[in-house]
Amino acid sequence: MKYVNLGNSGLLVSQFCIGGWQLPGSGSVDESGVESVDVEDLKRVLKKAVDYGVNFIDTANRYHGRMSPTDLVHAGGSERVIGQVLKGFEREYFVIATKVSARMSPWPNGEGLSRKHMMWQIRESLKRLEMDYVDLYQLHSPDPLTPKLETLKTLDNLVKNGWVRYVGESNYPTEEIQEFMQLAEDHDLEGFVSMQELYNLLERGVEAKLPLAKGYKMALLAYSPLAQGILAGKYMAGVQKGDRASYAEDPRRFSDAGVLKVLPELEILAKEESITLSQLSLAWMLKKQETFGVTIIPVVGITRLSHLEDDVGALEVNLDSTVEERMDELVSNVTFAPPA
Ligand SMILES: NC(=O)c1ccc[n+]([C@@H]2O[C@H](COP(=O)([O-])OP(=O)(O)OC[C@H]3O[C@@H](n4cnc5c(N)ncnc54)[C@H](OP(=O)(O)O)[C@@H]3O)[C@@H](O)[C@H]2O)c1
Repeated sequence: MKYVNLGNSGLLVSQFCIGGWQLPGSGSVDESGVESVDVEDLKRVLKKAVDYGVNFIDTANRYHGRMSPTDLVHAGGSERVIGQVLKGFEREYFVIATKVSARMSPWPNGEGLSRKHMMWQIRESLKRLEMDYVDLYQLHSPDPLTPKLETLKTLDNLVKNGWVRYVGESNYPTEEIQEFMQLAEDHDLEGFVSMQELYNLLERGVEAKLPLAKGYKMALLAYSPLAQGILAGKYMAGVQKGDRASYAEDPRRFSDAGVLKVLPELEILAKEESITLSQLSLAWMLKKQETFGVTIIPVVGITRLSHLEDDVGALEVNLDSTVEERMDELVSNVTFAPPA
């Protein structure tokens, strides 16, 4: 396993992060009709991940583990089940990332990045995870109502109090990340070590933010690196029961005609390289580190052990520039609607 510094910090993380948004499903549903996470399967996945040397897990206070979008009853499910499973492992081995800002209750301060909400939610996250601290606390999405300095001072205090080790952002526009980093510098507060953004072969908007990431030595945690399974070729033969597309809020993107046309071409490239489609897309992303001068860590959704075995294989692939260029060319005319 390759370990990289998480941005401008001394924290070493595996260059493969397991995402907690969607976890292995049990097949059985609760009284609201929501599928539960299969705890034993998750245990098997994490055990195998440890065998591979993966030490990095990402979740969020709001995630359920199977349901999306998550309602308030099921929010917190992912942290809970990850905490439950990790009790069987050595805590200090893992780097645990979670997030705050999404709505967690219906009352006025039930969401956002105010001191009140964050101080409440870090305690709740730690309770659900059954941990004393999290390694990376990320702002999940912008809160236009809270002054940035209030949010930064709160994060800084969480670090000083020992509840959080490092801080990061997710889904903020470039100018606002810049504003946060400048404020952190001016007030001698903890700045972001990472940005967590949507990034895959088909969804490239974040590339415009990478000069900023490079300037501040922030790592890119690339979420949905397989475009929710599309780049793994899952939907080339249509939607199967239990697949993400079968319970997504808006399943249209899984059958996008432009993408379905390009996938067989990508499959040919993968065959030529003797690798799988997933490995091709993940290896492409790792290759992009050379172009942008930024550490890129894919945050991969793992719902099956076989997917983990396949996807981790990408770390062994050293893609040639000609293949990278061919992939860029193949998708250059594909317009792909952002996820709902
Ligand atoms: N910060 C944010 O706002 C944000 C937003 C979204 C996600 N995230 C983070 O990013 C993580 C990953 O996102 P994601 O789940 O959309 O990522 P993804 O890695 O693009 O998609 C994962 C899905 O792809 C399929 N898959 C994975 N490997 C496969 C393989 N080898 N062969 C066939 N299919 C494969 C599985 O689909 P099936 O389950 O259908 O089999 C899996 O659930 C999340 O868990 C979360 O931690 C963050």
